[in-house]
Amino acid sequence: MKITVVGGGYVGITTSVALASSGHTVHIVEINKAKVNQLNKGKLPFYEDGVEEKLRWFLTSGQLSIHHQLEDCINESDAVFIAVGTPSLADGSADLTAVDAVAEQIGSYTERDLVVVTKSTVPVGSGEKINQLIRQKLSERGVDLMVDTVSNPEFLREGKALYDALHPDRIVIGTSSDRARHIMKAVYHDLHCPVIYTTIENAEMIKYASNAFLAMKISYVNELARLCERTNTNVQHVAEGIGLDKRIGSLFLNAGIGYGGSCFPKDVKALEAIARQQGLTMHLLEATMRINETQTEWFVNKLQAVLHNLGGKKIALLGLSFKPDTDDIREAASLKIIHLLTQRNASISVYDPQAMENVKNLHPQLYYASSSYDALKNADAALLVTEWEEFKHMDWEKAKMNMKQPIVMDGRNALSPSVMKKLGFYYDGVGLNDTQKGG
Ligand code: UDX
Repeated sequence: MKITVVGGGYVGITTSVALASSGHTVHIVEINKAKVNQLNKGKLPFYEDGVEEKLRWFLTSGQLSIHHQLEDCINESDAVFIAVGTPSLADGSADLTAVDAVAEQIGSYTERDLVVVTKSTVPVGSGEKINQLIRQKLSERGVDLMVDTVSNPEFLREGKALYDALHPDRIVIGTSSDRARHIMKAVYHDLHCPVIYTTIENAEMIKYASNAFLAMKISYVNELARLCERTNTNVQHVAEGIGLDKRIGSLFLNAGIGYGGSCFPKDVKALEAIARQQGLTMHLLEATMRINETQTEWFVNKLQAVLHNLGGKKIALLGLSFKPDTDDIREAASLKIIHLLTQRNASISVYDPQAMENVKNLHPQLYYASSSYDALKNADAALLVTEWEEFKHMDWEKAKMNMKQPIVMDGRNALSPSVMKKLGFYYDGVGLNDTQKGG
């Protein structure tokens, strides 16, 4: 099949590469000229394992091409995927400006029957609006074409996006059209997983409800962690014990310093805004957000209790990205911690394998270390913020020799408490019991 994907961000590009891997010919349309040039050179505007190599491969083979204008490729396509951003507005609801603009362009330029597939995360009812915008443009042009709309949300994790696109747990296809259902079956012909056929509105809701549920699991375990510390219990054992109940499941029960990224914070807010517009209060979502907002401060307060006063202390942050294997710092816990430590007059050194440039643009005054060991030089304490593999496997004995005080606060419970204590560190994590923490 021939497919156009509008949006050269991480969802658009990963989806395109996955579609090309399934044998389709893919045209990517990107509004930003600089990004078009960069992509044409085979360079990704973000870091995502394995995607750049595949992009280059398909560009060279001619199976994938990059365009600046939708009109250059829309009439060579059986389906158009919309994968543009839907950022948060001030009230938490999703900004649909980019999605609406694409819908209008589709209506303005298509000369043939089409299936229009929304990958972007959009509020319930958006599919119908997209439909109307396209039809309005078609009728202004006086053309009568068959344009069917589909909601086909993505569930890609950053860092594992290509794997997730090629090995999904499920595919959700929301449409009322048999023709669109048939075409979507052909699009995903080689993926083996349950496929849910449902209405557009249900598909839109499934996306928000999935992300909000995962965020809720994380906030629940983070709140439990606070209680575990008071009751001398260990949240990791508690999470293991509850997670083995199949009804609960063990994933997304790692206590830490809160969720970040481009999806969870935005989607929980957006779902809450949808409910508010319907006159409903979503108490669980409100609590999920509140716990997440306060988790970093709770952790920094623990550090302050150990050091007594943060003023003038040198604190080393290990990890800046919102999670490992990405350079994405959107809504990252590191940014909240930098803000809190700056307010409390600490001096800050940072190290991250991928995300330093992104943070440098926002906080040029920090010390950007050349390695984790360099960041820890003369530090009064290390804060492990992102659980990159290299922090788990570094030589902590060597690191300790350069630190002013051997204090490690592990915001992701990534290190072994017993090993760290044996090496002579004062060690604390999130939700640990008295025998695990201390020095
Ligand atoms: C998420 C969803 O997983 C994906 O399905 C959706 O389409 C986009 O949002 P992503 O944002 O890439 O993907 O990250 P994910 O791996 O889900 O982690 C989100 C945040 O939760 C990270 O900050 C991570 O550190 C945190 N997290 C995750 C925890 O704190 N504890 C956990 O147990 C799991």
